Amino acid sequence: MISPQIIEEIKYRNDIEEVISQHVSLKRAGNNLIGLCPFHSEKTPSFTVFTGTKSFYCFGCGAGGDVISFVMRTENLTYVDALRALAKRSGIEIPEDEKDQRMGVRRERIIEMNRDAARFFHECLKQSREAQEYVAKRKLSTALIKHFGVGYAPNDFEALAKHLRSKGYTQEEMKEGFLCSISKKNGKSYDIFRNRIMFPIIDVKGDIIAFGGRTLSNDKAEAKYINTNDTPVFNKRRNLFALNYAKNSCSEQMILCEGYMDVISLHGAGFTNAVASCGTAFTPDQARLMKKYTKSAIICFDADEAGQRNADKVFKLLSEVGLEAKLLKVENAKDPDEFIGKFGKEAFNRLLNRSRSRFDFKFSSIIAKYNINDVGDKVKAASELSDLLASGWSEVERDVYSRQVAKHLDISLESFKADIKRKMSKNEKAEKKDVKRSVMLSTEGFGDRVNPDRLKNQSAAGAEDAILGILATYPELIPKARDKEALTEDDFVTEFNRRVYKKMTELGNSFDIGLIGDDFSQEEISRIVRNSVSRQSLTDNGEKVLSECISRLKSLKKKESQSLEDLIASKRNNIKNEGK
Ligand code: UTP
Ligand code: MN
Repeated sequence: MISPQIIEEIKYRNDIEEVISQHVSLKRAGNNLIGLCPFHSEKTPSFTVFTGTKSFYCFGCGAGGDVISFVMRTENLTYVDALRALAKRSGIEIPEDEKDQRMGVRRERIIEMNRDAARFFHECLKQSREAQEYVAKRKLSTALIKHFGVGYAPNDFEALAKHLRSKGYTQEEMKEGFLCSISKKNGKSYDIFRNRIMFPIIDVKGDIIAFGGRTLSNDKAEAKYINTNDTPVFNKRRNLFALNYAKNSCSEQMILCEGYMDVISLHGAGFTNAVASCGTAFTPDQARLMKKYTKSAIICFDADEAGQRNADKVFKLLSEVGLEAKLLKVENAKDPDEFIGKFGKEAFNRLLNRSRSRFDFKFSSIIAKYNINDVGDKVKAASELSDLLASGWSEVERDVYSRQVAKHLDISLESFKADIKRKMSKNEKAEKKDVKRSVMLSTEGFGDRVNPDRLKNQSAAGAEDAILGILATYPELIPKARDKEALTEDDFVTEFNRRVYKKMTELGNSFDIGLIGDDFSQEEISRIVRNSVSRQSLTDNGEKVLSECISRLKSLKKKESQSLEDLIASKRNNIKNEGK
């Protein structure tokens, strides 16, 4: 763990305004700065940098934090790596012995263990006839197997566990790294990946951070793939399979596929700029990650209905981060892997050259549904196309595409554009209503993932939020709440707020969100900042409001336990009365 003093120094020397300005163009608004949020797409700025508390918060998407969180999000780094990056930026030396404690060691142990596991799987592949037959059938050459470190997890509950034990890894480490589970029956470790072809997932530094394992069994009860779940070294939403190789040849263009096998076949055919998401639907974090390495993307999904539907979502995510994207349509094969196997790399190159923009792709699929010589059909086609153009395009794109539609359907450009305008303003109204609704629901606790207990205890949770908001803004009040007002974690009604307060009492007046990045997720940190942002106007009477909220929370808690006692008492009476 990096010491609090060093973290404080890192935050002090990396001015939040300066760091954020490298990514966002900020304008002054009163004491604060505003700009367009880098974490979601918006046209009017709701991203705010608070110079007083050195924090940021987006009123649009709810992302918030300090300079460390900002770097974690934009550079896609873990807490410790973000601290290291900022230390480097400002020339701060992190003392050697502080670098590698707890989290650091655990992370390194897991990475080392993954490397040992990958070697083990790779050896097992060489020795298993069944696995050899399978990779031959899938046309995985020896060279490709070596290049990607492909392996085989034997059909045995203990093969890997035994091997790792002999290398000195503990049960706990195997479990944390998602390689083994611990049996409830006998407390022994057993392998999670069994009878599977193993694909190591390697990050851009070259570390093996996870695995994807494809079953060899035809049993439908077996999951086709098992992927490493989130571990201290792996977040599946923030990594891309084969980016370790693709990063060297993708500066102009990156190919995004659905499956591990697709990527491997493409690399084998010389398309070394191919990547895939690792066992999840494509995420905004992955879109940002791609944007860091490339100028444009080719979406190359399976030919089936699901693949095509998925493509449309991915188009949106990519355009939100400002990546130009095109869609490649696989023909006469179910996926890119099969296509390459059947037709070869020249044929794939032709598909690449024929890939189309999102508009062209939607346009032709809409046109194909209708007979545009029929007046009724023509109106329907025009209506679908104006729906399409009413959201998610730049002004120029809308103009160019409207002309294309008007010409193709032989309709008036003016009336087509008027239709689009009308639909746009309708969408905008609906959107505003939606935002209002979701804000209302989230303050009431519906769908609140950070603090799900909120819904059951709204008034108490309200008091808690106020207390924590004030304490996060004025940490000097934390000892007062703890010692003078005798506020304890048991006074808290919701689990999340209790955790936050516990951390606050541990850190006392040196509490800072920069210190808790290991214990709280970005979403949770955003919530702490949100609570603090809405209390920043309470400059003078923060202390008074704090006392009031503490008494309110305590009395609500008391009422709650009283009503429980009353309930029990009345039940007892009922039973007595029944007995009479
Ligand atoms: P596919 O079913 O298309 O797999 O799923 P594939 O990679 O083409 O494999 P083959 O060619 O059938 O052997 C695409 C991706 O979706 C994820 C995996 O990341 C897979 O590569 N997936 C699929 C899972 O995570 N779990 C599953 O059960 C299935
Ligand atoms: Mn596939």
